[in-house]
Amino acid sequence: MDNWKMTRRDFNKSAALGAVSLALSAGPAVRNVLGANDRIGLGLIGAGNQGRYNFTSMLRTEQVDPVAVADVYDLCVALTLDAPTMPPGKTKGYKDFRRLLEHKDIDAVIVATPEHWHGIPTILSCEAGKDVYVEKPTSHTIYEGRKMIEAMTKYNRVISCGTQQRSGEHFQKVVEMLRGGKIGKVTFVEAWLYGGFTREQRRQAAPPDSDPPPGFDWDFWLGPAPYHAYNRSRRGFTGFWETGGGEMTNWGPHLIDVIHWAMGVDTPTTIATSGGRYASQGIYETPDTIEVIYEYPPCPLNDRGFVARFTNHLGRGPEGRTYGTQFCGTDGTLFVNREGYTIWPANPTSDVWETFGRTDVEKGDGTPQHQPHVVNFLECVKSRQKPNADLETTHRATSACILANISLRLGRKLRWDGKQEQFVGDAEANKMLNEERRKPWNIL
Ligand SMILES: NC(=O)c1ccc[n+]([C@@H]2O[C@H](COP(=O)([O-])OP(=O)(O)OC[C@H]3O[C@@H](n4cnc5c(N)ncnc54)[C@H](O)[C@@H]3O)[C@@H](O)[C@H]2O)c1
Repeated sequence: MDNWKMTRRDFNKSAALGAVSLALSAGPAVRNVLGANDRIGLGLIGAGNQGRYNFTSMLRTEQVDPVAVADVYDLCVALTLDAPTMPPGKTKGYKDFRRLLEHKDIDAVIVATPEHWHGIPTILSCEAGKDVYVEKPTSHTIYEGRKMIEAMTKYNRVISCGTQQRSGEHFQKVVEMLRGGKIGKVTFVEAWLYGGFTREQRRQAAPPDSDPPPGFDWDFWLGPAPYHAYNRSRRGFTGFWETGGGEMTNWGPHLIDVIHWAMGVDTPTTIATSGGRYASQGIYETPDTIEVIYEYPPCPLNDRGFVARFTNHLGRGPEGRTYGTQFCGTDGTLFVNREGYTIWPANPTSDVWETFGRTDVEKGDGTPQHQPHVVNFLECVKSRQKPNADLETTHRATSACILANISLRLGRKLRWDGKQEQFVGDAEANKMLNEERRKPWNIL
């Protein structure tokens, strides 16, 4: 371990200087182009649950050297460095991710911070000449997401996102089948998540504000978000508008990405959301119940467009299917989630969609998604090809989720120009495409 026990004074000094100095540095801290047999120097920014999972999965490929880990909570750095899968003694630990970005021997970084902390480290990583694997939702605002794409393009970086369904063979097969007309013209797609954050965390009342645990830099955790006293509940970032967007931006990007991918679209034209906090306890702000109706333009699977619905609420889910995406077409219905897919052909002689006792229902098992996904990223770091879940497509899935939350918060149906990334004739809504960031993180 190196200097991961940075003092507050050190941090304040670096916070005042760092964001700007990186942008002004003489050149990016980057090695030359990698050959097929070269090892990839890897850094991890945000060593919580998903960060450690991504990091370990990449280590398992035996193509990477774990160079450094950064987290604002010392415990998370220590847990990562002390893991049995880590080669002993080599990897450095930091509190400030900008120290990690100074490493010339880091080629790629994982950004697995909370939702409000994806954009800035991704952009600074691009500036520092690193490729990036960034978790979903790719950004906290649509403006920030576009800035990430601009940085990727400007610095010629490879960016893959944590929408790992794209690397699952059964998802790829389903997309192929839909595109091949398996269920005819698709008129309606629904994606749902029953429970989730809603069920697990909202039942409890909030604990009182307190001091953060030792070694946890709470001010840095909040980063660009407005300051609040430490409260354990706030670390459930999904539950607060300033750091997340509810299940809409947590699970939504996965499920909506599958809709975009299969239907060959990237942006809705209208969005109408209903929802609220009908059962929540505690200080959580985001809804426990949400239903969005999107209209999409003409696309490969329907030259007249289609309607899509996303819903998250309490309950069990149809036939016990807790989450997934269902495509409804003129010749059948197709359901897919991480566990597999089912296709119910339409009854050619009746409008009744009776499935009981049918022998022509087709099923397929789920296939691994996460491991092939990180392998795809590492291959693209070497080949410089676009990854399966490139930033532009995941930005579009993320944007659809952010748009739904804007519609909910404004309480009205919105019209969206996806090309311009602007609402049509709605100045109030357009103001919500960006947000204020706290110093020194007001760099976008
Ligand atoms: N792809 C998937 O299936 C999947 C699954 C779970 C989570 N995720 C995503 O991964 C991200 C992280 O989720 P999680 O469940 O691991 O959360 P977590 O709270 O367990 O981890 C986040 C970590 O980031 C650290 N952090 C916060 N600000 C930081 C900063 N400025 N610099 C460095 N570290 C910082 C926190 O201390 C924490 O350790 C989220 O965007 C989440 O949506 C994706």
